[in-house]
Amino acid sequence: MEVYDLIVIGGGPGGYLAAERAARGGLKTLLFEKNSLGGVCLNEGCIPSKALLHSAKTYLHAKDAFLYGVNTEGVTLDQEKVIARKRKVVRSLVSGIDAKMRQHKVTVVKEQATIDGSCNEGFRVKTAGGTYIGKKLIIATGSSPAIPPIPGVRENWGDFVCTNREILELTRIPEKLTVIGGGVIGLEMAAYYAAVGSGVTVVEMLDHIAGSTDREISTRLRKELEALGITFLLGYACERLEPGKVYVKGPDGEQKVIDANKVLLSVGRRANYANIGLESIGVKTDRNGILTDAMCRTNVPDVYAVGDVNGHHMLAHTAYREAEVAVNTILGKKDFMRYHANPSVIYTMPEVASVGKTEEECIEKNIPFEVKKLSMRYSGRFVAENEGADGLCKIIVHRENRTILGVHLMGAYAGEMIWGGAQLLETQFRVTDGRQIIFPHPTVSEIIREVLWEFPDP
Ligand code: NAI
Repeated sequence: MEVYDLIVIGGGPGGYLAAERAARGGLKTLLFEKNSLGGVCLNEGCIPSKALLHSAKTYLHAKDAFLYGVNTEGVTLDQEKVIARKRKVVRSLVSGIDAKMRQHKVTVVKEQATIDGSCNEGFRVKTAGGTYIGKKLIIATGSSPAIPPIPGVRENWGDFVCTNREILELTRIPEKLTVIGGGVIGLEMAAYYAAVGSGVTVVEMLDHIAGSTDREISTRLRKELEALGITFLLGYACERLEPGKVYVKGPDGEQKVIDANKVLLSVGRRANYANIGLESIGVKTDRNGILTDAMCRTNVPDVYAVGDVNGHHMLAHTAYREAEVAVNTILGKKDFMRYHANPSVIYTMPEVASVGKTEEECIEKNIPFEVKKLSMRYSGRFVAENEGADGLCKIIVHRENRTILGVHLMGAYAGEMIWGGAQLLETQFRVTDGRQIIFPHPTVSEIIREVLWEFPDP
């Protein structure tokens, strides 16, 4: 039986990148993927949702074109074409990953794999078609939507209730969409469907949307999304569903019934670590996922877990970096995860992007901090290109050592700018260091420089 240096289970961002990097590092690598390469991110998450949201943004721009001196008439959106284009985008990127695996000579087996104990040479992994041996293992089996035990959810699965997978495939725009969960997936899909004409209600258990996002930005985002036509029920939990109706209960026990043609369930995701044979080699887990250290090592020597399955940060870009750390560790190169500069983006209209600590977190952890902020309208390019729009840039600094602790943005291009914020945190820049960077002019990113100059001189 052929023995591989490395077996990677799962071909999403964590898995395929680990396989590629390992093969480039000279390891004989085998990658298992039971569906399509690219995982949730490429097939039913990040990429298809961005394709849809770009159609919505183009549609809104076309309707607003008169604000910029461009006359348009009879602007409409063809949902079937939107979905067809999204499928084309996904197909092209999936085939790109296929090609990359071939280029780097990664053996790809398109089957479901299960760990089947250890042996002298390493670990056995079996599929319906055979048994394989790897000296080392990287587990990258991702996550799945959480399905809470809300009465009516399972009974009405499919036509009425769906998750991110199905909502990205609708060829008809629902007249009334109810979104349960005002986190990232809920907000992005609510924004898309509201922009293209659905009556959207978001039911969120907490008293705010967008989870751990800076609270001021989450409040402003809610107002922007309300202006797009979305109704928010904050502090409401979904109690039960029946065809056409969603029953919710508010903070003081008040009950409401929402009429809906479609319900999107977006109440979080759960790591996929059951039924993959972890017990056959003794890999430890907790309720969030496989337990790993800063080098993505599990408790079992030579077994690593990267991406959503370790439950640290369920983000594709975190999975990429974890994959590199795991492979570097295997290759004997010193590397480890630092999560403090891990950016996140919500691709709504407007976009929200952040990295590092929020004011709320600093208060909770007793970190002395100072905060400065400016409207995006202090940026010349923003004003020139975003008629009537506004946004916010907020920077949080350690009050004593003046290092930058957090950068929070709302407004057009935020998602493209936030890596600069990550750089400031990763390099532990102080306010004075940041001020020395020459920002290109005119760009929206200059707002970061402007805010840094709002802090008092040392
Ligand atoms: P989430 O954890 O971001 O949000 C779920 C929300 O549902 C929470 O605010 C929670 O309070 C609420 N909730 C839970 N049960 C509820 C109930 N019964 N009634 C009403 N509200 C309820 O989860 P989401 O949006 O499903 O996203 C899953 C993962 O995917 C996240 O880890 C996210 O980071 C990732 N993701 C990231 C994207 C990005 O970076 N742009 C895009 C999409 C997903």
